[in-house]
Amino acid sequence: MRTRAAVATAAGKPLEIMDVNLDGPKAGEVMVELKATGICHTDEFTLSGADPEGLFPAILGHEGAGVVVEVGEGVKSLKKGDHVIPLYTPECRECYSCQSGKTNLCTSIRATQGQGVMPDGTSRFTTTDGDPILHYMGCSTFSNHTVMPEIALAKIRDDAPFDKVCYIGCGVTTGIGAVINTAKVEIGSTAIVFGLGGIGLNVIQGLRLAGADMIIGVDVNPGKKAMAEHFGMTHFVNPKEVEGDLVPYLTNLTKRRNDHIGGADYTFDATGNVQVMRAALESAHRGWGKSVIIGVAPAGAEIATRPFQLVTGRQWLGTAFGGAKGRTDVPKIVDWYMDGKIEIDPMITHTLKLDDINEGFDLMHAGKSIRSVVVY
Ligand SMILES: NC(=O)c1ccc[n+]([C@@H]2O[C@H](COP(=O)([O-])OP(=O)(O)OC[C@H]3O[C@@H](n4cnc5c(N)ncnc54)[C@H](O)[C@@H]3O)[C@@H](O)[C@H]2O)c1
Ligand SMILES: [Zn+2]
Ligand SMILES: [Zn+2]
Repeated sequence: MRTRAAVATAAGKPLEIMDVNLDGPKAGEVMVELKATGICHTDEFTLSGADPEGLFPAILGHEGAGVVVEVGEGVKSLKKGDHVIPLYTPECRECYSCQSGKTNLCTSIRATQGQGVMPDGTSRFTTTDGDPILHYMGCSTFSNHTVMPEIALAKIRDDAPFDKVCYIGCGVTTGIGAVINTAKVEIGSTAIVFGLGGIGLNVIQGLRLAGADMIIGVDVNPGKKAMAEHFGMTHFVNPKEVEGDLVPYLTNLTKRRNDHIGGADYTFDATGNVQVMRAALESAHRGWGKSVIIGVAPAGAEIATRPFQLVTGRQWLGTAFGGAKGRTDVPKIVDWYMDGKIEIDPMITHTLKLDDINEGFDLMHAGKSIRSVVVY
């Protein structure tokens, strides 16, 4: 069939909106009509050329929501008309990693997904001239229609608005999941969140949901303060305004009761900056503080700290897709949104048409948007 897509033809170039051919789903695959897609930093990372694994030409996008239009042979868990959220981290429930129960990093289709093709090694997308176009993160939500493996689709309730719950396909789940699945924050905790963008705000609302007492937000942009407060931040720190080192300032701020050491029970990096990651680890409490890396650092960047920081009981953790098992957890997060336990609407600052998708990237570069969503 023909569908309309924003194609990344080469690194560093704006997306080109064009008609493309899409082959129907093969065995174990599902065709989805996207209704909405968010534009995430990871799309920008790949489009810019900074991602060493980025492949072109490709159809980017990994934060979508839509409706099943056709299922391939052998597909049992989904049928035409089902509402779904694409998963860049699938959940096959059969591979060694899924069966371990210890991780959300399903490995069943990892190799082909990284190469921009379906599990059988081929792409379903071609140009109208017949040249292949690659898939991206197994999703390609910047196309009005896409084909995905059944194991990479979460079935969600029918009454959830596509233009909001698409954000659960990456940002919301990553931030909230980092708190609930990775850090396992308990009620009454203290926490510091570095970076109050689309991910950091969701860490903050995850902390509020988990019942944290003190939620310190750290950002070099004071314009982020008001929105972070709306989502539950209790204290704001602008590193540019702190005299002296940031870490002692933060540990001092977290001292309570008869604690003379200070440091937060949980800290989170949502900046992708390796110096910030170090500050996050070192501002976690001696003896038990856990620090979670969410941000994706530039290619080749490395983290550093003195080993004594870990010897004295701090733990350094990381999380992908918030540790969420997509088919199991994403429908629950959609319910939390529909039940008013979490908020999404204020974070969707811009809504665009596919033809204007490049404006979404401009808004991101200018720091003007939290999330831009394309509505088909
Ligand atoms: N682990 C995952 O599964 C996953 C998923 C999605 C995104 N990410 C990553 O999370 C990171 C954050 O994404 P986002 O969409 O929230 O980005 P964003 O640009 O919206 O937010 C980043 C925030 O960090 C602030 N910041 C930058 N440098 C800082 C510094 N030195 N100190 C304090 N604050 C600073 C910025 O002002 C901004 O508010 C990115 O690296 C992204 O690639 C990871
Ligand atoms: Zn993303
Ligand atoms: Zn698996």
